[in-house]
Amino acid sequence: MGTLSSTNPRILIADDQPDVVQSLRLLLKNEGYHTDTATSPAEILAAIETRDFDLALMDLNYARDTTSGEEGLDLLGRVQVLDTTLPIVVMTAWGTVELAVEAMRRGARDFIQKPWDNARLLSIVSTQVELSQALRRGQRLEAENQLLRAADRPAFIAESPAMQPALQLIARVGPSDANVLITGEHGTGKDVVARTLHALSPRSAKPLVIVDVGSLSEGVFESELFGHVKGAYTDAKADRVGRFELADGGTLFLDEIANIPPHLQNKLLRVLETGEAERVGSSRTRRVDVRLLSATNASLKEEIASGRFREDLLFRLNTVEIRLPPLRERREDIPLLAAYSLGQHSRRYRKALKGFDPAALQALRDYSWPGNVRELDHAVERAVLMAQENVVRSSDLVLGNGRDGAVRLEEMSLEGVERFLIQKALARHNGNVSQASKALGLSRSGLYRRLQKYGL
Ligand SMILES: Nc1ncnc2c1ncn2[C@@H]1O[C@H](COP(=O)(O)OP(=O)(O)OP(=O)(O)O)[C@@H](O)[C@H]1O
Ligand SMILES: [Mg+2]
Repeated sequence: MGTLSSTNPRILIADDQPDVVQSLRLLLKNEGYHTDTATSPAEILAAIETRDFDLALMDLNYARDTTSGEEGLDLLGRVQVLDTTLPIVVMTAWGTVELAVEAMRRGARDFIQKPWDNARLLSIVSTQVELSQALRRGQRLEAENQLLRAADRPAFIAESPAMQPALQLIARVGPSDANVLITGEHGTGKDVVARTLHALSPRSAKPLVIVDVGSLSEGVFESELFGHVKGAYTDAKADRVGRFELADGGTLFLDEIANIPPHLQNKLLRVLETGEAERVGSSRTRRVDVRLLSATNASLKEEIASGRFREDLLFRLNTVEIRLPPLRERREDIPLLAAYSLGQHSRRYRKALKGFDPAALQALRDYSWPGNVRELDHAVERAVLMAQENVVRSSDLVLGNGRDGAVRLEEMSLEGVERFLIQKALARHNGNVSQASKALGLSRSGLYRRLQKYGL
């Protein structure tokens, strides 16, 4: 070996004969392994409890007067409970192959018969150590991936051919620091992509700060973004930290970027170029380390042509551009997206719905979805509320003129409306009956009576 570094594998040598332990220790030490030793079952268990080993080399006979190895097999089981990933190579003294085989059957990785052959022992040890290190590395990666999937990464459904370029870009630039501009019509999933990019990046443990540029009035824009110091405005009673600083080390997501006022485009451009910003009213420059994501449903090319958007700013923002096609150009994804929404909303409204009947599914596939995925999600939510059976029927769907979120109450029966409003109120208050009854202007018992009546 010779090339082993300070991360040399550590091996536990366990045998009740001191001379065996000594010679194994010397042999392994010469090969660059760290070794610990144990001469009784109690010592073995204590050693494994206190530190991590890459391998245990373990004799199976501890009671001098018996050769059955039962105690050794029992010990093997107890060691495995303590450390499920520790590879164990057993040693058997009397050439009892049956015992060795039984140990293998119970999870030992390999066995060595005494007296052993040095070269063979070393080859078994190095093979098992390498294997276990690879295995443990794999498990760690798997755990990390699960964490990534579980943590803040939103569900992102995209199996259609039209979404493949976007998917590939997300996977490739997600982990980088590249500034990304996300474009697409309303409701195509720009927010979802921004959150996915952040979750994939090494910045994921730091904040993702979202600024809806479109909703900020020009007056507060600058202090929102860059902060201000006390006295900078007449009503600036205290210092304020801007979103740029809040996102330090993390990601700043500027949504509806086309709406940024012209004079602030200059300031933003300078911050992006220098990585420095000042709070309004302060001359102190602060360095900020942010990754910038931005999104727009406007055509920035047109905005540039008409002089409303600086082209050099665009070049700073769109190091990479991810275009999300409208839903009508990726109809293959409709059934999956609809099924996902159905699961979400039936859980929320506590309705046991299995799926869509064929006519309903066809209607979903055929519709043009001007409001894209958001409209689909709202349509499914409405259908979940309407459904009387355990599947959604096409009569439960209101597509088109219902327009985002609005149920056509005039087409419902009085009881239908009552049922609908009760379900809405319960969902809004997370199933809390007291709060829902208050919101509906009912007593708790009044609400309970109706819940019973409608079987909710
Ligand atoms: N690929 C997808 N997989 C699962 N859910 C999605 C997907 N795309 C969009 N959604 C859902 O659709 C809704 C709208 O998505 P989102 O808010 O990201 O759209 P947007 O492009 O940011 O819209 P806007 O331009 O109005 O801001 C959200 O509820 C989101 O979770
Ligand atoms: Mg959005």
